[in-house]
Amino acid sequence: MEYSVSFPTGTVQYCFTGIKELLKRAPADSSVIITDSNVATLYQQVIAAYRTIIIPAGEEHKTQQTIQSVTEQLLEFKAHKKTTIIGLGGGMITDIAGYAASIYMRGVPFGFVPTTLLAMVDAAIGGKNGVNFGLHKNMLGTIRQPSFILYDTALLHTLPDMEWSNGFAEIIKYACIFDAPLFAELSTHIINYYKEDATALNELIQRCANWKNKTVSEDETENNVRKLLNFGHTAGHAIETLYNLPHGQAVSLGMLVACSISESECGLHPDVRRQLAMVLQQYKLPASLKLHTEQLMDILVMDKKRSNNTIDYIVLSSIGSALIKPLPFETIKQALDKFSDAGNY
Ligand code: GLY
Repeated sequence: MEYSVSFPTGTVQYCFTGIKELLKRAPADSSVIITDSNVATLYQQVIAAYRTIIIPAGEEHKTQQTIQSVTEQLLEFKAHKKTTIIGLGGGMITDIAGYAASIYMRGVPFGFVPTTLLAMVDAAIGGKNGVNFGLHKNMLGTIRQPSFILYDTALLHTLPDMEWSNGFAEIIKYACIFDAPLFAELSTHIINYYKEDATALNELIQRCANWKNKTVSEDETENNVRKLLNFGHTAGHAIETLYNLPHGQAVSLGMLVACSISESECGLHPDVRRQLAMVLQQYKLPASLKLHTEQLMDILVMDKKRSNNTIDYIVLSSIGSALIKPLPFETIKQALDKFSDAGNY
C-alpha cells in the first residue's frame, strides 16, 4: 500500500511495500545511505548496492561532531543537490540523516527506512530532525519533510525486547492523547500479540502514523496541536538525559508524571494513572523511579517548550483527550517530588 501526505514543507510518500522496493524508490547511483554500525551489520545485503556512511550506534553520537563527519563523507562521495540521502535505522539515524540532508548544500532530498518500532510510529514522521547539544536534547535542528518513508515490519523481528517496549511507549502515548479505543485495545494485549500477528502490527503502526500525520499536517511548526505529541516528553526528556535511560522508558515515567499533574490541574481521575501504570508494565515499561528533582529541574528549565517561567505542559482530562497547559516550574517540581516519593503504582 502507498499513499501521500502533504505538509507545508513537502509531501511525503508512505510506502508500506517492504525494503525490496528501496532500489526503485532511491536508485543506488544517485543515493547515499546513512546508517549505524548495528544496522549495517544486520542489513549488509541492502547497503551493498549503495555508497554508505556508517556512524557509531548510540544516542551519544547524535551530535554536531557526527554531522561534521557525515558532511565530510558526503563531500568525499561528491554528493550533490540531486543526491538522495537515505536514513536506514532507528530514531538516532533518522535525526542525523534528516538534519544532514536539510543543511548539506542548503538541502538535498532524503527518505527514511525506519528499522525500529519507535522510528516507524514516531521518529521517522513529522520532519523535525536534529542533534543534541550537551545535556539539551534535539536543541539544534530543522523542520523539513522526507520525500518518502519506506516501511517493512519484517525488519522489526531482529529487534531486542527493549526496542519493542520503546516503540510501545509512543504507541501508548497516542492512545492517551487521542484514541481511547486504542488504549482499551492495548490494555487487553501484550507485546507478543503484535509480534505474532503481522496484520495487527501493521494496523497498529498505520493507526499511529495517521495520528501523527494528522497532527503535524495541522501544525507543522508546533505552535498549537502538535504540542500534544509532547505528552510525557517534558519530564521524559529530562529523565532520559539525567539517567541515560532508553527514550521509551523515560517517556513512560514522564507520562505518569503528566497524569499526576493532570489530577491537580484538570481533574483527571487518579484511576487513570493506575490504569496507565498497568498498561505500561504490560509492555515492559517502568512505572516508578526515585528522582533527583533538583537536577531534573536544571535540565527542564532549558526545555524548548519553555517561555519565561512556564512550560507548556501536556495534560489529560481523560484518556483520549489532551490539552496544553502553561505551568510554572514550581508546579512541575512539586509533581516530580510527589512522583518520586509515591513508589510503585
Ligand atoms: N522526527 C520526529 C518528529 O518530527 O516529530
